[in-house]
Amino acid sequence: MPLLETQALHGRYGQIEAIHGVDISVERGAIVALLGANGSGKTSTLRAITGTIKTEGTVLYDGVALQQRTPEDAARLGIAHVPEGRGTLSALTVWENLSLGAFTKSRKQMQERYERTVVYFPWLAERKHQTAGTLSGGEQQMLAIARALMMGPTLMLLDEPSLGLAPLIVRQIFDLLRKINKEDGVSILVAEQNATVALAAADHAYVLEAGNVALHGPGDELMRDDRVRRSYLGY
Ligand SMILES: Nc1ncnc2c1ncn2[C@@H]1O[C@H](COP(=O)(O)OP(=O)(O)OP(=O)(O)O)[C@@H](O)[C@H]1O
Ligand SMILES: [Mg+2]
Repeated sequence: MPLLETQALHGRYGQIEAIHGVDISVERGAIVALLGANGSGKTSTLRAITGTIKTEGTVLYDGVALQQRTPEDAARLGIAHVPEGRGTLSALTVWENLSLGAFTKSRKQMQERYERTVVYFPWLAERKHQTAGTLSGGEQQMLAIARALMMGPTLMLLDEPSLGLAPLIVRQIFDLLRKINKEDGVSILVAEQNATVALAAADHAYVLEAGNVALHGPGDELMRDDRVRRSYLGY
């Protein structure tokens, strides 16, 4: 049974329907990539899963249909959403941002999560009291991932973690995601325009076109697919 499964998932902004019946699934322990051009519906799919926008269709989590989907319910179930543009609060310190990720935890649990999180991001410990807005773009993206990790999530949804970052930092971020996936067993659904880096990390990938799944398959298979290569890999 998949950890997450969407069936005929629609998502809308007022009159505008952004996704028109998306079926995707994330096996427990897997890294799944959601690829597609600008406006293809990657962000809307992630938002529809956590109920950030108005949706129709079914989202099954661990085989159970999520009835009233809200971001709070998603968080309670262990789904951490790292949104487009990171969502870190720039006026708050690194520590304040991290503690927001663990707002449901006791003081002791929060400390335990912090100790686990800094294993992946040791530099955060030295920057604990730095204002988040003064971190570099790459550091802010890492802080956003660290904040999600503070929750002790089962599933992480990431929206374009590579956005605006240099290739070296992007590689570091995907290496960290792979490590978090392997060592903490966190399942990952990552929306990306950078298909090369996402496919290299993904067990399975979906390509969205105009709000529908155009094709999907194992990451290495899609990497060899002519359509994917022409449209997304540029060779
Ligand atoms: N707040 C909004 N109001 C109205 N329409 C929106 C809104 N956000 C997105 N859309 C529309 O929904 C469709 C899908 O957009 P979405 O942001 O999900 O795409 P995306 O794949 O994440 O694109 P990008 O790679 O640029 O982030 C687009 O047609 C877009 O114009
Ligand atoms: Mg987007």
